[in-house]
Amino acid sequence: MSDLQSLTSSITAVTSPFRSYLTDLHTQYQANNDGAVADYIPELALAKPEWFGICVVTEAGQVFEIGDCDQVFTIQSISKAFVYGLALEDHGREYVNSRVSVEPSGEAFNAIVLDETTNRPYNPMVNAGAIATSDLIKGANGTERLKRLLAMFQRYTGRELDINVPVFLSEKATGFRNRAMAYLMLNFGMVSDRIDETLDLYFQQCSVMVTAKDLAMLSATLANGGVNPVTQERALDERYVQDVISVMLTCGMYDGSGEWAYRVGMPAKSGVGGGITAVVPGKLGVGTFSPLLDAKGNSVRGIKVCEDLSQDFGLHLFNVAKPKLDLADCLTGNDVDNW
Ligand code: DON
Repeated sequence: MSDLQSLTSSITAVTSPFRSYLTDLHTQYQANNDGAVADYIPELALAKPEWFGICVVTEAGQVFEIGDCDQVFTIQSISKAFVYGLALEDHGREYVNSRVSVEPSGEAFNAIVLDETTNRPYNPMVNAGAIATSDLIKGANGTERLKRLLAMFQRYTGRELDINVPVFLSEKATGFRNRAMAYLMLNFGMVSDRIDETLDLYFQQCSVMVTAKDLAMLSATLANGGVNPVTQERALDERYVQDVISVMLTCGMYDGSGEWAYRVGMPAKSGVGGGITAVVPGKLGVGTFSPLLDAKGNSVRGIKVCEDLSQDFGLHLFNVAKPKLDLADCLTGNDVDNW
């Protein structure tokens, strides 16, 4: 046996139980072809239905990547949670709350609806609330505001990110509902009058290109109190981490949020590009990518992966029962009961 062969076989031999577990999940759900690729933004329709990646990053900085974890896609609505964090840093909780509420709307992500008494959008995860949140991002002009957004994402992911210009232009050319919402909010004085600049910023933040690994880094950073567990760089002020995670739990999966909280119990955010990022506070972040979406705009395979992780390892926020599998044992490579 050559040195290389023996090295490779020893690597295979020490494959952790957690990696094997994720590989099995990937094989199982790759066969599920339910759902459809989003096509309401023409550029998104180019995604391949078979793309599927699962990445988990622990708060200790261990990275597990299975499948298409280097395939880039646009972050879409997942950006909303992180831009909300930046708006909180820019203005503080009270002011941000006066512009955007934190109530689940029970409506589709693109519903044209505001709270009747306060005229605020329901929460920062639906499009109206996300546009009001983008409006709050400070900067002298559009370029400076976009630079601040990209720098913020870089602190979470540990690598430089860029926007997909064709997707941005495609959204800008077709996003009439978003424009309608922005003007409705302008009518009520809920956003500033730099409306075109803010809409561009919103379309640009949705067009940021990420991988499943980036999504796992984003949520692992939240799970780790706002500090990237690999680079150790702080991405979000500690005071606002809980705010962002709370809104992800109650509103991150849109009109599927209640069922998600009940069945999965991991604060999460999805995007129509096919990504899901899910936080297990104090433990880990999950990033999944598969562009086949259900009717609510959430990734079908991604939901399955998160459901299984939650059930098998007892990762539901309110779980008090002994889990089937022990996460710490799986991560350290120890043998596990019921494996
Ligand atoms: O505003 C839009 O339509 C998109 N840029 C973002 C939508 C999105 O990801 C909704 N998610 N599931």
